[in-house]
Amino acid sequence: MNWEDFDQGHADLRRQGNWRSFVPTTVGADGFLQRNGRQLLNVASNDYLGLRCAFDQQWLNAATAQLAEVDECPMTGAGASRLVVGHDFFLEQLEARFAAFKGKDRVLFFASGYAANVGMLSSLISRGDTVFADKYIHASLYDGIHLSRAKLHRYEHLALDQLDSLLKNIPTGRGRRWIITDAVFSMDGTIAPMKELVDLAEQYGAQLIVDEAHAGGLFGTNGEGLVHELGLQKRVAVIMGTFSKAYGAYGAYVAADGPVIDQMIQQARSLIYSTGLPNVLWASVALQWERVRTERWRAKQVMDVAGHFAMKLLSNGISLGQWGTSIHGLSHATTPIVPVLVGSNEQSLNFSDRLRELGVSAIAIRPPTVPEGMARIRFSWSAAHTLEQAADVASKVKQVFDEMN
Ligand SMILES: Cc1ncc(COP(=O)(O)O)c(C=O)c1O
Repeated sequence: MNWEDFDQGHADLRRQGNWRSFVPTTVGADGFLQRNGRQLLNVASNDYLGLRCAFDQQWLNAATAQLAEVDECPMTGAGASRLVVGHDFFLEQLEARFAAFKGKDRVLFFASGYAANVGMLSSLISRGDTVFADKYIHASLYDGIHLSRAKLHRYEHLALDQLDSLLKNIPTGRGRRWIITDAVFSMDGTIAPMKELVDLAEQYGAQLIVDEAHAGGLFGTNGEGLVHELGLQKRVAVIMGTFSKAYGAYGAYVAADGPVIDQMIQQARSLIYSTGLPNVLWASVALQWERVRTERWRAKQVMDVAGHFAMKLLSNGISLGQWGTSIHGLSHATTPIVPVLVGSNEQSLNFSDRLRELGVSAIAIRPPTVPEGMARIRFSWSAAHTLEQAADVASKVKQVFDEMN
């Protein structure tokens, strides 16, 4: 077989510093990981609350006990799509309880955040609709918009004035208008101006969709999310989030009014044409959710650590891009994600290599995940880390900056 065109494309990617590959990694509960035989501080995972390793024998017993009542073989696959026979009472009840938590009529779980966004947007948005989206929304939202075939207008990151003018000047056709935003932006650690977005949506008759992947578990009195912390849950049409980040589990949810959920059940192909997740996974979500609600010190810890790190860097004149463009009235005006802007792909790879030599695992993020020329090191902190570790990594970042400039 001839794969010359692939080989050529791969050679180009390597030349551009854009080649991607897997590195076997063992991640521990203590905020460290093992890679290539070395122990490194893990500032690269989205396990913000440090809950991923909350798995022990006691946990396993609790999960099994929860499931034994509804399923004879709870630990393996669901056996069918949820619309066939892959949906049982445990899942039915968990969704209902989670809907109450999110302050919405109903909730629909999906296999992953990616599947949720693609299924949600392609089923709710139609060809004649108009979508207004922050330029930095997640790739899965772009893919969902693309599948919907609606017309897309992007506004600069957090640029409310531009959004206002687009909403004012772009004529409303017969279709719906939608505004789509992340609550916390994954590569920038910025926070969406939620109240203003809700006001604009109401002023211009648009429906607001919020992706809380990096806000769920962190914001809100009980970890409900950013929308909830600001008391906006009744005014946001659709709230999506994942269990794969702060919850330290897997899967995702979409919370909305009943007809919106029904529309997804009828039309979301990533739900309909895919086997339901094994119940052991939903049991893990239920248990992790309990820890999210009851161990609120974790959210405070990770925010304190990330804030400490960011302040140290800023005081050393290091650019964090738009980080810190936060909104007021939040319990913590920071996020666990702190980007250090480096520039070219090559520089960012060298930066991350040098940090690794100094015992820190932080990943270089390159285009197309971020705009061309804005490659960066994305630091994502966890509740397992300490203020001392944050200060130590900040001084290592300063050292690498000085070496490279
Ligand atoms: C904002 C956002 N939405 C959705 C997703 C997809 O979630 P999952 O990893 O559960 O598929 C991600 C994951 O990186 C994300 O950052």
